[in-house]
Amino acid sequence: MAENKGAANKNQAYAISDIAGTRRLYAGWADTYDADTTEGMGYVAHEVVADLAAEFLDKGVPVLDLACGTGMLGTELRQRGFSTIDGLDLSPEMLAKAEALGVYRKLGELDMTQAYDIEDASVAALTCCGIFGPSVIGPEHLVHLAPPMKSGARAVISINGKGYEERPFEDALEALFDDGLFREIYRGFNDYLPKEDIDALYVVLERF
Ligand SMILES: C[S@@+](CC[C@H](N)C(=O)[O-])C[C@H]1O[C@@H](n2cnc3c(N)ncnc32)[C@H](O)[C@@H]1O
Repeated sequence: MAENKGAANKNQAYAISDIAGTRRLYAGWADTYDADTTEGMGYVAHEVVADLAAEFLDKGVPVLDLACGTGMLGTELRQRGFSTIDGLDLSPEMLAKAEALGVYRKLGELDMTQAYDIEDASVAALTCCGIFGPSVIGPEHLVHLAPPMKSGARAVISINGKGYEERPFEDALEALFDDGLFREIYRGFNDYLPKEDIDALYVVLERF
C-alpha cells in the first residue's frame, strides 16, 4: 500500500538533521499538516499535552508554546481555559497557520537548537509538543528549556517514543535533575501517532 503523505513527511522529518532541511520540510507541509497528522496518522500529542497542562499548569499565567507549529495545541489549551498563549517556532509557514487561528497572543521565530533568545526567568508556564524525538531536536537540546523559565514554573513536554528508544533522552533528563535545574512532577507513556504505532513519553518538569 502506498505510504500516505503525512507518513512520508514524518519519515523525512525523522531523517533530517539540519535546520535548513527542517525549514524546507515544514514550508512544504504547513498547508496539509493538520489533516496529515491527525486524520492520516492519528496524532494525539497535542490533546495529551493539553490535558496534562490543564492538570499541572497554572491557567492564570501566560503559557509559552514552543515549536507551536500550526497551533493545534494552542487551540486545545484555549478550549481548556488557558487565556494567554504565546507561540514560537522555526517555520514562518507553520507560524502563519497558527496566526490565522487567532488563539495566540504573540508569535515569533525561534530555533530550539540554540540557546533561546528569551529573557532569563521570564516564562511562567511552557508547553512543547511533537518536537523532541528522533529528528533535529534531541536530548542535548533539553537543557535550553531551563534559563527562560521562572523558578517554580512548569513545562509539559512530549518525547516521541522512537526518539526515546534511539537516543539518550533518559540520561539528559537525569542530568537536568542532577544539575538542580528541574524536578519531575509527572511522567507517563501515552499515545502519540497510534496509526503509526508510535507512543511518547510525556513529562511535566518544574524549574528549581
Ligand atoms: C511535528 S511539528 C509539531 C507542531 C505542534 N507542536 C503540534 O503538536 O502539532 C514540529 C514543529 O517543530 C518545528 N521545529 C522544527 N525544528 C525546530 C527548531 N529547531 N526550533 C524550533 N522549532 C522547530 C517545526 O517547524 C514544526 O512546526
